[in-house]
Amino acid sequence: MGNPCTMAGKLTNRRILVGISGGIAAYKSAELVRRLIDLGADVRVAMTKAAQEFITPLTLQALSGKPVSTDLLNTEAEAAMGHIELARWADLIVIAPASADIISRLAKGAGDDILTTLCLARRCPLAIAPAMNQAMWHNSSTQDNLATLQKHNIHQFGPDKGGQACGDIGFGRMSEPNELAQEVCQLFKTRTLEGKKVVITAGPTREAIDPVRYISNYSSGKMGYALAQAAAEAGARTILISGPTNLATPEHVECISVVSADEMLEACMNQVYESHTPCDIFIASAAVADYRPVDIAQQKIKKTDQDTMMLKMIKNPDIVASIANRTDSPLMIGFAAETQNVLENAQSKLLKKQLDLVVANDVSKTNIGFNSDDNAVTIITKDAVTEVPEKSKVQIAADIIDYVATYLTKKY
Ligand code: PMT
Repeated sequence: MGNPCTMAGKLTNRRILVGISGGIAAYKSAELVRRLIDLGADVRVAMTKAAQEFITPLTLQALSGKPVSTDLLNTEAEAAMGHIELARWADLIVIAPASADIISRLAKGAGDDILTTLCLARRCPLAIAPAMNQAMWHNSSTQDNLATLQKHNIHQFGPDKGGQACGDIGFGRMSEPNELAQEVCQLFKTRTLEGKKVVITAGPTREAIDPVRYISNYSSGKMGYALAQAAAEAGARTILISGPTNLATPEHVECISVVSADEMLEACMNQVYESHTPCDIFIASAAVADYRPVDIAQQKIKKTDQDTMMLKMIKNPDIVASIANRTDSPLMIGFAAETQNVLENAQSKLLKKQLDLVVANDVSKTNIGFNSDDNAVTIITKDAVTEVPEKSKVQIAADIIDYVATYLTKKY
């Protein structure tokens, strides 16, 4: 069983949709929701009709602090967060308990209630925690259905063996909430970058004009911090070089705070080329100011009678290009924030900046890109173009890190 102390914070920023189907074990779902929230997850709950016979939506709403989805055809609930939006929101759906009935419906690809529809529309992994009478568990139809789900890469947690509510003894008891929470943590944990050092830039830079003013942009740092979290979870020693943000440093990540592009360049050069440990992967997700004022006024610039003022700017160093411009450079990943001709512009950055991969994002859309929780990107190498559809930055980051880990094994 997972030690609650060592698991603390393991699910920070993870969005987990707990699905509850009808079964006596539904009372344990309340404890599962609490455990996941304690571990830092943002939890929402969807219940089948049968589940509501065993535990009320109100209990789950009180525990999760969020409205509970119970009905596909409820216009009010759909207006608040529609089922497609909720399916996209989730980084993981875990159905606990998963009855023989919902397992059968999932195996058939049914979409006949809120929970099965969410599962059909998801873009994230799905896990089930089966719970049923031991005879139902051993029934060949149930076992066939489970085999179908396994073929579709649906994860299975448990069941355990033991005494059942009906008096039988055997397989079919839902795993305890703490064990399920540990399984969820494990699911998010990959070790594909074990032994690697990854340096990531994040956030905006600020270029001073005078002691009280600067030039910057709308980057929140969310994409870069999510990448750092994913790299650390993949086992890499992760150094985050961050411009000013309001974000907390993810667990097991070393953060170096900088302000300007010059400071960011210096920190990157130190971490990539001057450090005792060589850097294997460099990811530039920061939105670095391309220009800075030529002179920084020593005193606050005073308003004058003139209607206009001129600010003379000079080009900042290109950090990612400076790192890439050496024969001993690490694997180089840049981002391309584009408002038009996204693919063409990103492809030209791949060549011009001598990168191995470019992650293109269309920042003309307000719901993705700068300062949003979600993103949609295209990963471009010189041989392939891979679309990653809209989802949370945490999930996009995990996909990028997976892609990079696979790319690395193929390259070397
Ligand atoms: O921080 P968030 O709010 O989560 O938003 C995420 C993001 C939109 C900032 C991020 O996903 C992103 O696209 N980052 C790159 C933004 C950018 O500056 O793109 P660019 O096309 O201007 O630059 C191309 C690449 O060169 C980037 O990897 C950039 O980090 C790098 N660069 C740019 C200029 C410079 N002087 N030095 C650099 O290293």
